[in-house]
Amino acid sequence: MIRVQVPATSANLGPGFDCLGIALELYNSVEFSATPKGIFIEVEGEGADGLPRDESNLVYRAARLVFERQGFKPPGLRIRLVNGIPPGRGLGSSAAAVIGGIIAADAMSGAGLSQREILNLACSLEGHPDNVAPALLGGLVIYTAVDGDITWFKVNLPPGLKAVVAIPDFALNTRDSRESLPQLVTMRDAVYNLGRVALLVAALQKGDLTVLGTAMDDRLHQPFRAGAITGFKKVISAARLAGARGVALSGAGPSIIALADKNFKLIADVMRDTFRESGVNARSLVLTPSPVGARSLKIM
Ligand code: HSE
Repeated sequence: MIRVQVPATSANLGPGFDCLGIALELYNSVEFSATPKGIFIEVEGEGADGLPRDESNLVYRAARLVFERQGFKPPGLRIRLVNGIPPGRGLGSSAAAVIGGIIAADAMSGAGLSQREILNLACSLEGHPDNVAPALLGGLVIYTAVDGDITWFKVNLPPGLKAVVAIPDFALNTRDSRESLPQLVTMRDAVYNLGRVALLVAALQKGDLTVLGTAMDDRLHQPFRAGAITGFKKVISAARLAGARGVALSGAGPSIIALADKNFKLIADVMRDTFRESGVNARSLVLTPSPVGARSLKIM
């Protein structure tokens, strides 16, 4: 049996739209076992009620990409998914499914895919590298595609940094959310984000968190997405007041991520309560950044 553990991820961190993501210590587990025939998919944990158990399951679709590439046909396959990452909340659940499926299929078929091949395959399913890159590599990852091929760089994070995530009780579809974004932005707004994303990466690498309040602001996507998340601005202000260094939408939302080096519980409570006061049921988690990405284990 093959078991793969894949971390949650938070993309963008404010200004790093489509080029920055961080891995967090909250995991989905993907298990593959060979069977004599048939496809059996079991799902436990987050999203167990709604996720498909047939061939449309994303883990299975990702695995099939690898099997087809290798010309490998398992006689039968049992997939068991134990999900810690809530789906549709901007915490990389679909990237975890894609990476988990590819790595498990890689191990089962003996494909021996390189990290670059895994990333390129994952991006062909996921459409963008934001979550798949940190889910595979861990840490904070900067990435860009050059002629369809991904170039990335992993940045060290300061010790003691934690992510507080407030997770509303409703899901948003990333594809729909991307459709609400403008096709063109002004030079002023592009420059606004350029300075901030550079500042954010440098500050995190240097361990200087004092500038995160400025560095995690954004004009390219959050202003257009905020309308779909009741209480968005209030939660951001409340988290800052409670001591968060910087706060942003997590990926396409609706979760909100605060980076902090103290007051973790207070920030978590305040973010959850502010959502609730705005009429949105929510929970919050304090998560440590995951320095490592997906890991696989072959269990005999
Ligand atoms: N960069 C992507 C977006 C992340 O903001 O649409 C989606 O998780």
